[in-house]
Amino acid sequence: MPVITCIDDLKRLHKRRTPRMFYDYCESGSWTEQTFRENTSDFEDIRLRQRVAVDMTGRTLETEMIGQKVSMPVALAPVGLTGMQCADGEIKAARAAEKFGVPFTLSTMSICSIEDVAEHTSKPFWFQLYTMKDQDYLKRLIQRAKDAKCSALVITLDLQILGQRHKDLKNGLSAPPKLTPSTIADLMTKWSWGLEMLRTKRRGFGNIVGHVKGVEDTSRLGEWTAQQFDPALDWKKIEEIKTLWDGPVILKGILDPEDAVMAQKVGCDAIVVSNHGGRQQDGAISSIRALDPILQSVGDDVEVHLDSGIRSGQDVLKAVAMGAKGTYIGRAFVHGLGAQGEAGVTKALEVIRNELDISMAFTGRRDIKDVTRDSILVPEGFSGTWV
Ligand SMILES: Cc1cc2nc3c(=O)[nH]c(=O)nc-3n(C[C@H](O)[C@H](O)[C@H](O)COP(=O)(O)O)c2cc1C
Repeated sequence: MPVITCIDDLKRLHKRRTPRMFYDYCESGSWTEQTFRENTSDFEDIRLRQRVAVDMTGRTLETEMIGQKVSMPVALAPVGLTGMQCADGEIKAARAAEKFGVPFTLSTMSICSIEDVAEHTSKPFWFQLYTMKDQDYLKRLIQRAKDAKCSALVITLDLQILGQRHKDLKNGLSAPPKLTPSTIADLMTKWSWGLEMLRTKRRGFGNIVGHVKGVEDTSRLGEWTAQQFDPALDWKKIEEIKTLWDGPVILKGILDPEDAVMAQKVGCDAIVVSNHGGRQQDGAISSIRALDPILQSVGDDVEVHLDSGIRSGQDVLKAVAMGAKGTYIGRAFVHGLGAQGEAGVTKALEVIRNELDISMAFTGRRDIKDVTRDSILVPEGFSGTWV
């Protein structure tokens, strides 16, 4: 068994174990991938303070996100096709999150359905909604999430249309993978993935197939999703969805202070400063750079979370010190899942918890709730005005 000490170790195993089209789907950004790269490199520009001779005993990472207790301020982000990284992937990731005491967010574009995940877990999870043109389907989807007792609705706002990721087009991404000479050659080297996939019945888009008229199998699904995402989404529609849901709402994909103010006006429990992990607007600024101006624009009136680029506990610490009340990991947990299934997601969370705990102690803090801006050193002009 390899010794795993960091997220990069899980990433290497993920690459070795999972078919190329799904690894590439995870490990890519749109167009030139500039935003994808800067999401991580901008975290490196921030430094942690090192304080000494401070009592480090009795440390705690426990806090709250939207009033719900979390063992550390890290949730699993919604990730489409998670069940293609590893058989029954969403169920495995949700179970790992539940045992760890952090929120799991199920994507609309998951392989395991809302009902399936609810049946295989014992605590409520969060549901992420893509807004669709088909209003009947949208209403039923929201009702299904309510019936499954999901404890928050995460409405994703930065994917009305799909950003282009070159590798997905070149690899002919589909779920399940279409058998071509090159996918067959690749699958032959990924036999343990293939064996597990053969043993599960969950290989299509569980929230869609069988729930939308005219879509009984996955063959027409690509066409359907391209046509169905709502390019006309606006704040009025968001208000309507909020009314339909009538529970905690998180608005995800905010990168601009003006949009943050709009989100605040609509009324929500939290916003997620996010650029979708660099998968949508290439050339947009990194989330960590966008955080400060957004915090200044909304004040204390709304909880501010952040994702995009988090690969370590040090990154979580930096985001929290900058003012985020919570963070989300996308690729970091998917690498764990692709590497080792449920145990790999647990490992990813353990790695991040350990890094967060030790780094926080080195900054002279014992309680994550006491971490503030004075735990970090931010270069002048880091979040300066971009004109
Ligand atoms: C493979 C992949 C699939 C994703 N699918 C979704 C999705 O279905 N819904 C959504 O709101 N965000 C989706 N995202 C974005 C994540 O929720 C999150 O914003 C992003 O992964 C954060 O960046 P990180 O991967 O650098 O942590 C996806 C991200 C990845 C990497």
